[in-house]
Amino acid sequence: MALNIGTKGYELLRNPHTNKGTAFSDEERRSLGVEGLLPPVPTSLDHQIARIHTQLAMLNDDLQKYLFLSDLQARNETLYYAVLMSDPAGFMPIVYTPTVGEASQKFDHIFHAARGVYVPISARGRVKQLLSNWPEKDVRFIVVTDGERILGLGDLGVGGMGIPIGKLALYTACAGVPPELCLPITIDVGTNNAALLEDPLYLGLRQSRVRGEPYYAFIDEFVEAVQVLFPKSCIQWEDFANSNAIPILAKYRDRICTYNDDIQGTASVALAGIYGALRISRQTLTDQRFLFLGAGSAATGIAELISQAMAMEGLTLQEARSRNNLFDINGLLTSSRTLMDFQKPFAIEHTPIGSFAEAIKALRPTGIIGVSTVPKLFNQKVIEAISEINERPIIFPYSNPTSRSECTAEEAYTWSKGRAIFASGSPFPPLTVGGKHFVPGQGNNVYIFPAMGMAVYATEAKRVTDEMFIVAANAVAEQVGQDSLDVGLIYPPQSKILTASLHVATRIAEHIFDHGLARIARPEDISHLIGNKAYVPAYRRID
Ligand code: NAI
Repeated sequence: MALNIGTKGYELLRNPHTNKGTAFSDEERRSLGVEGLLPPVPTSLDHQIARIHTQLAMLNDDLQKYLFLSDLQARNETLYYAVLMSDPAGFMPIVYTPTVGEASQKFDHIFHAARGVYVPISARGRVKQLLSNWPEKDVRFIVVTDGERILGLGDLGVGGMGIPIGKLALYTACAGVPPELCLPITIDVGTNNAALLEDPLYLGLRQSRVRGEPYYAFIDEFVEAVQVLFPKSCIQWEDFANSNAIPILAKYRDRICTYNDDIQGTASVALAGIYGALRISRQTLTDQRFLFLGAGSAATGIAELISQAMAMEGLTLQEARSRNNLFDINGLLTSSRTLMDFQKPFAIEHTPIGSFAEAIKALRPTGIIGVSTVPKLFNQKVIEAISEINERPIIFPYSNPTSRSECTAEEAYTWSKGRAIFASGSPFPPLTVGGKHFVPGQGNNVYIFPAMGMAVYATEAKRVTDEMFIVAANAVAEQVGQDSLDVGLIYPPQSKILTASLHVATRIAEHIFDHGLARIARPEDISHLIGNKAYVPAYRRID
C-alpha cells in the first residue's frame, strides 16, 4: 500500500512515517525532491538495521540505548520497528522492563520530545478537545496510565508515560499491531511523590493526587471522549494503583472494549505456565490444587482465573475456588478470619495454620505459587514438603524482581531432587543440577498482551472477557515444543515471540467469532485474517 501524504521534499525526511533515510531510491529522490539531501548511494533496510545495531553496540548503558531508540522512533518509524523486530527478545529489556523503569523515574530530566497524549485533570470538561488533537483519527488501541503504580517503582506522576509508550512498542514488535493505530495516554491527576513535587524539572501538575468522586468523574469523561472519537478502540489500563484498577475494570468491562493487563494478563500468563506444567506431568487441571503464598491482588487474580478455567473443565466455580487456597502474612485464609471482599471467595473451612510448610502437609497441593513480594519463603522445608507429596511438584516463585523471588531455580531443582516444574516472575539463567540441564521459564505477560491486542484489533471485538484470557493461556502452552519440555521450559522461547503471538491471537480471534463478540464478519480463514492485519516493517511507496 502506498502512502499518500501530499508532501514532498525536505518535509518527508522530518516525518517519521515517511522518512526512509538513506533507503530512498534514486528514482524516489528525484521524484520526491530529496535528491542531494542525503548521502548519494541508496541503501537497503537491512543495511540500515545493521548500522543501528553497530551504533547501539557503541553504547554501554541501557538508558542510553533506550534514548537512542526513542530518537529513532521519532525519526524513522519503519526502521525503529524493523530494528526491534530483528531481535524482540534482545530489545525488550531496553524498550520495556527494566530500562523503561529507569527512564520513567528520570522522565523529567531526560525528556526531549513529546509522544502520545497527556490528559491533565486541569483540562476537566475539555478532554475530548485534547484527544482530538492527536493526528490519527482511526485509533484502535490505547494504553493509558495515571502513573500511580509504575512497575514496582510506585508513584511517578506524569513520568509514567514511559510505560504506555514502551508497552505499545511491544504490541507492535511482538504481535504486529500497526503502530499508527496505537495511542499512548497519561492521565495526570497530580502525584503524591514528594520528590517529584519538589523537583523544579517535574513536568506534571504540581498538586497531590485527586481522589474519590472527582477522580472517577474524570475517568468517566475520558472514557466517554474515547468512545466518541475512537469508537473502534480498546482501552488497556496500565499501572494504576490496585485501589483504582479494580473498580475501574469492574465499571467498564461490560460496557466497552477494555482490559487491565496487570490483572488479567498476569493471571493469564500464570495459567499458561500451569497448562505448560500439565504437559510435563500429564495431569488434568481439575486434578490440581494450588496453594498461594500471598493473598494480594496478584494471588487473587491468578486464583480466580484458574478457578474459571477449572470451571470450564467441569467443576463448579465453588469447587474450583476451594482448590485454590491462599496463605498470607497471617497464615491460611480461613472463613473464621476477617478478610477483604476480594479474598473471601477463597477462604476455606479449616483450623488456622501459621506455617506454610504445615499448610502444604495439611492441604496437599500439587503446586505452590509465590506472589508474596518476600524472598526466600520457599525454603528447603517448603520445597521438600511439596516434593514429598508430588512426583512433579509445580513451583512458581512469581514475585519480582529477582531479589524478591521466593526461591531460585537452583534451590527449587536441588531441594526437589530435579523433580520441580519451575517457572518464575523474573528470569533465571539455564543451569545444571544433579547432572541434568534445565532452562527455567519466565511468566512474562508479553506472551499474552500483544496477542490479545492483535486479536481485538483484527476482529474489532466488542468486549474483552476472562474466557479470552483462558484461551490465550492455552494457546501459549500448546506451542511449547517437546524439546523445551524436556529441559523443564514451559513457555515458548521469547526469541520466537512474533510467531507465538500470531498463533495466540488466532486462537483468541476464533473465540471472539465463536461467541459473537466480533464487529466484523467471520472470515473463512482466521489465521489469514491475523496474518494479513499484522504490521510488517517495510517502506511503503510515497505518492
Ligand atoms: P500485594 O502487596 O497485593 O500482596 C502481597 C501479599 O503477600 C499479601 O497478601 C501479603 O499478606 C502477603 N505476604 C507478605 N509477606 C508475607 C509473608 N511473610 N508470608 C506470607 N505472605 C506474605 O502484592 P501483589 O500485587 O499481589 O504482587 C505480589 C508479587 O507478585 C509482586 O512481587 C509482583 O511483582 C509479583 N507478580 C508477578 C507477576 C508475574 O511474574 N507475571 C505478575 C503479578 C505479580
